[in-house]
Amino acid sequence: MGLTVGIDVGGTKIAGGVVDEQGHILATARRESPATDTDAIEHAIEELVAELRSEHEVVAVGVGAAGFVDSRRSTVLFAPNLAWRDEPLRADLEKRIDLPVVIENDANAAAWGEFTFGAGEDVQDTLLVTVGTGVGGGIVLNGSLHRGAFGVAAEIGHMRVVPDGRICGCGNRGCWEQYASGTALVRDTKEQARQGSLIARSLLDRAGGVVDDISGPLITEAAREGDTFAREQLASLGKWLGEGIASLTAVLDPAVVVIGGGVSEAGDLLLDPVRAHFAANLTGRHYRPELEVRAALLGNKAGMIGAADLARRP
Ligand code: BGC
Ligand code: NA
Ligand code: ZN
Repeated sequence: MGLTVGIDVGGTKIAGGVVDEQGHILATARRESPATDTDAIEHAIEELVAELRSEHEVVAVGVGAAGFVDSRRSTVLFAPNLAWRDEPLRADLEKRIDLPVVIENDANAAAWGEFTFGAGEDVQDTLLVTVGTGVGGGIVLNGSLHRGAFGVAAEIGHMRVVPDGRICGCGNRGCWEQYASGTALVRDTKEQARQGSLIARSLLDRAGGVVDDISGPLITEAAREGDTFAREQLASLGKWLGEGIASLTAVLDPAVVVIGGGVSEAGDLLLDPVRAHFAANLTGRHYRPELEVRAALLGNKAGMIGAADLARRP
């Protein structure tokens, strides 16, 4: 099989790439995500594919979509952070694109990418956690992607971690992604800055004094340069993540947990707190082999690369 296109549709951006059989990216392109307009999302994907095809001959398209994808890998049943409701995405895109299309959950696609070409290459059982607009999950069991009976396994962002907690885009309260996502990180950081908290002062200065200009990348940059408040914010996100991963490990017992998504670019500033809180909360700790928590090797390209590879396996 020749080259394929992988598309990653998230809550903030749509990224596409031409990918070869070894998982190498030959070209990329991106658009803002028109999250509330399903037609505009399809149009953006159509444009991205056209742009990428103008330079390379491609034979199929894989789309990683931030939502619940049915077991036929055709329909997005539901998306908490995008407007898809029972959306026949595969059929719609095949009309627009005229190539075979495979739809996969974005985090599943990323898990597949990391398992095939990245941080999970050396093991057979992995859990991938993406930390971005939402919290996504992908489970590789015995070397294959675990989709569940109806296609919607690994919706780990919607485990309840706080009874009657914050309202979630899915309609429930207290979901993990309301505490452990990039959105939650930025929300809490802004809240402290808005309250005039003195410890947020230097971070707010970086944002030109404008609370709404505080973003995930800004927090990461500040943390890297030693800003105490930014580091604390990442550490508290890491606490939520580590505790949740400890619970998931009670169910899945993976060999490796891979942390991906935009916020994982903070590296050990996020991963060290994740590891510490994971270790402190794991059931049977000290008396069982300890898994490794790794950063996604393919970074934020994991979904694109995984989706492109899945397009080769219809
Ligand atoms: C969605 C998942 C998705 C994740 C990451 C969650 O809110 O329910 O389907 O994988 O966000 O985008
Ligand atoms: Na998933
Ligand atoms: Zn939820």
